[in-house]
Formats: sequence, C-alpha cells, structure tokens
Amino acid sequence: MTILSADYIYTPDGFVKEQAIAFTQTIKAIDTLETLQEKYPDAEVIFTEKNSVIYPGFINTHVHLEFSANKTSLKYGSFMPWLDTVIEHREDLVGSCNNEMMMNECNEMLHSGITTFGAISSFGNELEVCEKAPQRVVFFNELIGSNAQYADMLYGDFLERVKASQSCESSSFITPAVAIHSPYSVHPIILQKAVNVAKQNSLPLSAHFLESQAERQWLEEGEGELKGFFEKYFNTSKPVTNINEFMYAFNAYPTHFTHAAQATKEELAHLADKGHSIAHCPRSNRYLGCGRLSIETLHDLNMPYSVATDGLSSNDSLNIFDELRAAVMLHYQTPVLELSNRLIRSVTSDAAEILGLNCGSIEVGKVADFAVVTLREEPKREEEIALWTVLHTKVCSQVYIHGEKYV
Ligand code: BEZ
Ligand code: FE2
Repeated sequence: MTILSADYIYTPDGFVKEQAIAFTQTIKAIDTLETLQEKYPDAEVIFTEKNSVIYPGFINTHVHLEFSANKTSLKYGSFMPWLDTVIEHREDLVGSCNNEMMMNECNEMLHSGITTFGAISSFGNELEVCEKAPQRVVFFNELIGSNAQYADMLYGDFLERVKASQSCESSSFITPAVAIHSPYSVHPIILQKAVNVAKQNSLPLSAHFLESQAERQWLEEGEGELKGFFEKYFNTSKPVTNINEFMYAFNAYPTHFTHAAQATKEELAHLADKGHSIAHCPRSNRYLGCGRLSIETLHDLNMPYSVATDGLSSNDSLNIFDELRAAVMLHYQTPVLELSNRLIRSVTSDAAEILGLNCGSIEVGKVADFAVVTLREEPKREEEIALWTVLHTKVCSQVYIHGEKYV
C-alpha cells in the first residue's frame, strides 16, 4: 500500500484540500493523511511538494506515433497542400521513424502526465513500442481504402492488425480498437464491416470526420481541392459516400469522431443524439487551416469531448499542457475559468468514459494513475486551480501508472 499526500486532489466533487490517497494498483481510500496512516500503518507515505495538485493521469485519445519524425517535411497552413505532402513524404517519414523515436515521444507524453493514449495506427508499426511504453494504450487499428478494387485486400490486412493487437491484450496495457480513416478514404462496404467488428467485439471505435472545408465540399458536391487529389492519385472523380451516409453508418455504436471542425450544428446534434463523442485537436486544426470546432455547441448539446494532440504530422509537441493552452487561446469566447475546468474534464473523466476505461477519476476502485502538478505558488482562489494548472504547467512533478511511480 502507498499513500500519496498533497495540498489538493482533483476529485469528482471538485478540488479537495489537505487529503491523501491510499492505493495499490487501484485506489483504496481517500481521506486525511492521519486517518489513512492509522488505517494502513505499514503503507509507504509519499509527500508532494507544497502547492501540488494530484490529478488522475491525463488521457490523450488521439495520436499518430508513426509520424513522429515530421518536423518541417509537411506543409502547414491549409489541409490540401498538407495532404499532398503527406503522400509525398509518407514513406520517408514512416521509414525514418524508429522505435527509439516513438518511445521518446511516449516519454514526452508521460512527463506531461499522459498515462493513457489512443494510438491511431495505419500500419501496425508502433505496436511493439506501445507494448513497451509504460502507459495504457488504446490501439486503434486504422482502416483506409476508398477503391473498391483493393478494398478486400486492405480489409484483410486491417483484420490481421486487429488480431495482432488482440493477442497482446492480456500481456500488456493494450486495448485493441478500430479506427476508420475518414469518409473520403474508406469505401462504405468495408466501413460497415469494420463498424460491425468493433460492435461485435465491444472495441472502442474512432473516425476522422469533417476535418477540413475541402472534405466537406468533396462529400457534398464532388468538387473542390480533393477532386484534383483523387483524379491524380486514384483515377476517380467521385466521392464514395456523402456526409449523412457516413454518419448514419455509425448510428448503432458510439464512436469517437476526431476533428468535426467543419460539422454543422445539426450534424453535431445528430452525433450527440446517437451517443457519439468528439476528439478535439486545436493545434492540428489551426496548423492545417481547418477552422475552429464550435466547442460551445458541444457544451450546449452536453456532448462529451476529449482534447487530443493528434500526431507530430500536424503538431509541434505531444505535451498535453501545450494542447490545453492552445484550446484556451482558440476558444476565446468561452469564459476562461469555466473553459479550464471543462478542459481538465476532457482529458480525464470524459476521455476515460469515451474510451471505456476504468481510469480518469480519483475515486475508490479506479486504477491508480496519477499526474501530480506543482503550482508555482499557493492558489489564492480555489476556483482558479484548473486555470493555473493549464497556464503554468509544462511537466508534472510525479506520475503514477497502475500504482507504480514513473516520474
Ligand atoms: C484512399 O484510399 O482513398 C485514400 C488514402 C490516403 C489518403 C486519402 C485517400
Ligand atoms: Fe488524426
């Protein structure tokens, strides 16, 4: 048994003062240090620095580790020029991204307090790293392929990758999962088969959706910048689906839709009504010129969302605090205290619920994943703790996963 004590603990009832947590691999009790020491006299007691806050470990629901090598290869500013450079540099980038590089990024995430991440995997290359990384990993095997001629082959390869991730489930912190690349890049027939695989095996399901204006125009009109792309690389000039057909394919199974920056209120309302959630990647959306997700619409709809980094293919770091600060800046309309609290929820309890994991919350029975943030001085007003956490933190002072201390 270990007891971790701090000035503040972030709990489902808000920030509680001068309490401690007793835990093994899971949380056993939350009470004053004296009470816990009486109850567990043999426990090791760990103190945190003054002005520390214990948070549940943070959850980054959407990251592409395979693209960790990108620094200046991909063109930022607008979605289509970016996608063109992804095609141009994909082999080099994926080829030069070795296990050491991906593990360094897992460490970067770890130091920012990320104890769980959702790895979107196009090729399965990062499975070994995800098995070795200390974090819990939801391993999203991605399905891609709009061309009916190759669809069966690509679907077969996808199934093999799902199986490979299922086979390491028992020996590591890996949860196998399914990702659909996007409405424009996946043929509806294999899309429906993959959704059924997720549903029948109760696997988390995710899909990029309405990331850019170009995607919206292509799906609505069969026109715009994506038309040239499909003519050039796929010898076709017609989209394989439309917005409603794609959305409705997920009606029967809750899905984590990434971006939705170009979704209308009505589309978001439909998604909320079907029990879906959104992965919001503010820096990625900004860097690729994709516009701003209407986070206030999600708040109005009471729709769950996570804040996620996306990959280094469209970002400059995998640090969750960098991402949260970007969200604060992007959503200037939302009052800053309310937004900071909402953002902390988006990377803890809401993210855990979305991924179906028993973490993300400091409650008895939850797994002992913690991220300790040490504030620069005493918070003068308790209602500002979330804001100071987001604005002042680069790295966590301590990090625990499954009861084990990693930082
Ligand atoms: C496709 O298979 O349609 C596709 C693959 C990569 C990017 C875009 C589309
Ligand atoms: Fe992504």
